[in-house]
Amino acid sequence: MKLIFAFFAACLPFVAAQAGLNRVAKAAGKLYFGTATNPEQFVDAPYLTVLSNVHEFGQLTPANSMKWDATEPSRGVFTFDQGDKIAALAKKNGQLLRGHNCVWHNQLPAWVTDGNFDAPTLSSIVETHCSTIVKHYKGQICMPYILFRLHSWDVINECLNDDGTFREDVFFNTLNTSYIATALRAARRADPKAKLYINDFNIEGTGPKSTALVNLVKSLKKQHVPIDGIGIQAHLIVGEVPSTLLGNFRRFTALGVEIAVTELDIRMTLPDTPELRAQQKQDYRTVIETCNAVRDCVGVTVWDFTDKYSWVPSAFDGEGDACPWDANIVRKPAYNGIVEGFRRRLRHLL
Ligand code: G3I
Repeated sequence: MKLIFAFFAACLPFVAAQAGLNRVAKAAGKLYFGTATNPEQFVDAPYLTVLSNVHEFGQLTPANSMKWDATEPSRGVFTFDQGDKIAALAKKNGQLLRGHNCVWHNQLPAWVTDGNFDAPTLSSIVETHCSTIVKHYKGQICMPYILFRLHSWDVINECLNDDGTFREDVFFNTLNTSYIATALRAARRADPKAKLYINDFNIEGTGPKSTALVNLVKSLKKQHVPIDGIGIQAHLIVGEVPSTLLGNFRRFTALGVEIAVTELDIRMTLPDTPELRAQQKQDYRTVIETCNAVRDCVGVTVWDFTDKYSWVPSAFDGEGDACPWDANIVRKPAYNGIVEGFRRRLRHLL
């Protein structure tokens, strides 16, 4: 028996590396391993080949194409051409689709931010926006998953400040917190089968922001507002992964919601060194192991898989190399960190 176990254990690194990230994630009991993407990148043939490889990615999130500025640039005028390109690719490949996002303070058209709408008008604008975009993508799901679980929507994105107070954007300033329930209820009516999420960053470990999110979810549930999941973005820094991940993930699922790691990347101060890459591998592994250890952590999405298209260098001066594939679309040690993170569960299952 011991010999058989040793044989399988020795084979695992090879088998897992061949298998691809989505395959390894699913073998560990997760729903998917996915990536964010943008349709402009589809002209890059080597990129598209990896993106469309369902052994690597079983789920796609549009990084920008379903945001408010892309979908309702003028009031009541909806454009879905960019998001539809990603939905079509996901459907063709048999990949799950995550909607991102309905309500966010960023990438908002000026007609929303500068409209000076009164509360009833802005509330109806939020309702119309959420219900229209969620309805548009209703049922956009590939057949193999149809009996399994439908796609998810980041209905509310980044509604909290790091100190746990609510973000004072146009929605909060006009409607207080009522826009959150309005958006979630509209999304539920538009697609009753979609999993509805609140998605945020800096909620990976314990702290005032994750506590505020726990309280928000409790209060929504008490008011019978539909809420199915918490999206943990996980834009992390090499060597600085919080030590409280596991306890915090469990604190979220104890609320009776599922969780997903929705935007994982782990950036470093450039230049890249072998030591930083080794630490990055360890950090990816830690995040994956944590999701793996929590039954209701349903999947992990990286915020694009290659440094070629990462958002990090444009947002953080002197930082980058945050993804599991490098800018030449070659796998980095981080890739193996992800495989190893899922492997722990595989070993447990043997
Ligand atoms: O569309 C314009 C284009 O017309 C213009 O020529 C170009 C010039 O810079 O800018 C284009 O807009 C950019 C947009 O991405 C689309 O490419 C914006 O400048 C740029 O700021 C924007 O960045 C996006 C960022 O959200 C905005 O905050 C990133 O691509 C996107 O990856 C990032 O995603 C967010 C998640 O939605 C929420 N969580 C954090 C995450 C990272 O910031």
